[in-house]
Amino acid sequence: MKRAADQMFIIFGASGDLTRRKLMPSLYELHIRGMLPEHFCILGVGRTPYDDRSFRANQAEHIRGILAERHINDNMLDVFTEHLFYISIDPTDRELYGLLKEAIRRLQVNMQLPDRIIFYLATPPFMYESISTCIQVSGLNMSGSDGWRRIIVEKPFGTSLATAEKLNAHLLRIFDEKDIYRIDHFLGKETVQNILALRFSNGIFEPLWNRNYIDSVEIHAAEAVGVGTRGGYYDSSGALRDMVQNHLMQLMGFVAMEPPSAFDAETIRDEVSKVLRSLHPYTTHEIDRFVVRGQYVGYRSELDVNPLSNTETYIAMKILIDNWRWSGVPFYIVTGKSMPEKVSEVVVNFRSTPHQLFVGQCAGSSCNKLLIRIQPDESIILMFGLKEPGEGFTVKQVAMKFDYDSLDGVRLPDAYERLLIDAMSGDSTLYARSDALEASWRFVDPIIGHWKKKEGKGLFLYNQGDDGPSEREQLGMPATGCCKI
Ligand code: BG6
Repeated sequence: MKRAADQMFIIFGASGDLTRRKLMPSLYELHIRGMLPEHFCILGVGRTPYDDRSFRANQAEHIRGILAERHINDNMLDVFTEHLFYISIDPTDRELYGLLKEAIRRLQVNMQLPDRIIFYLATPPFMYESISTCIQVSGLNMSGSDGWRRIIVEKPFGTSLATAEKLNAHLLRIFDEKDIYRIDHFLGKETVQNILALRFSNGIFEPLWNRNYIDSVEIHAAEAVGVGTRGGYYDSSGALRDMVQNHLMQLMGFVAMEPPSAFDAETIRDEVSKVLRSLHPYTTHEIDRFVVRGQYVGYRSELDVNPLSNTETYIAMKILIDNWRWSGVPFYIVTGKSMPEKVSEVVVNFRSTPHQLFVGQCAGSSCNKLLIRIQPDESIILMFGLKEPGEGFTVKQVAMKFDYDSLDGVRLPDAYERLLIDAMSGDSTLYARSDALEASWRFVDPIIGHWKKKEGKGLFLYNQGDDGPSEREQLGMPATGCCKI
């Protein structure tokens, strides 16, 4: 892959957690791989009073910490941090943007940078509108003739359909849609992208990828950890907004979309959007039947969580897609905190044979599965029935496994590495488009509204380390759920 074109990368919220944990380590990895532009700098904007030197030292220390298991070349790290700069201002105070403009101008001259700038909003979401307004009022959203402007916006993108629409409308007054990058880090995961390659570069899966051959699809994202120190944010969000509306629905878009006619950002995102617009809207009765919400015991005593909270830390739902390909095929989405282990995967359950000839473990439905394991232990596993050795014809389930570890010397990049270099190169294929996001809010909003009316009624408790509340069984998910291979 070639380097991105020369540009400046401006991070709002540069002294924050996301910058430390994700953005800087990923930018450093891109530097090691020789993918950052030749003429390039990262300008951090934040309230914390750093200067360039202390900002560099601070980020270097965090990069060493986060990438502790990798060998860090001191020289490479020094070269990388020399590209870091910092300006300490309140990013919501438009009066101070003169200082920011001057810092940008100076860096562009000193580092021979063209007028190409990416703004990354790594701040709390309530600042998105005021920062982008300041960018507009100061004229920073306009570029010279050889330049461009792009903006990357972190999740959550709104907290409801109305707020997402408002934020979209606001950003569209300042930037073109093609320059707005709504990041969803799940789409940057290698195994998620491989769903597209698996489906559309092989002749053997796609003919079966429909209601005639697929019985159901499961999308799991279980986490062993609880809410930790994020109780304040999480308590106003819950699993539905935190994981389903964005990550898991985008993932579902990849699993369920029609074959795109070309591999470009708009064509792919058209197909994702079509899936999300085809979700069968629930009636309130269906919400009660098809959506199970749970909360782990002990959640209400977590830091910054309301002691009477009815926020769900677990959700299992059965979703139907109203189109020709998927009519009648349930998609089960299951996600939760404080579950037995971290595992994210897609399980495609194929229909059983029309007539059963054999007896045994793999004689009925759920015998043929395709597992796309997103993390950990990234792999693709095909399960099918084979005769047990010896007398008789007893059939048992066996697995054929492709393991990413078997690709010697190949390191799976962090999702942010992929997404950052894509935005720097102007490729928005793996970024969420406004219509898709709005479609998923349109689906999710009535569920949140219904729960609000019911308060805690219908919220089931589960013990930490359990697979969620037992009420999940009412959904009729295939018993073997996540297969342990
Ligand atoms: C984030 C959610 O977007 O994704 C977190 O806010 C969640 O609650 C995280 O833990 C999961 O991401 P990953 O990459 O660790 O599976």
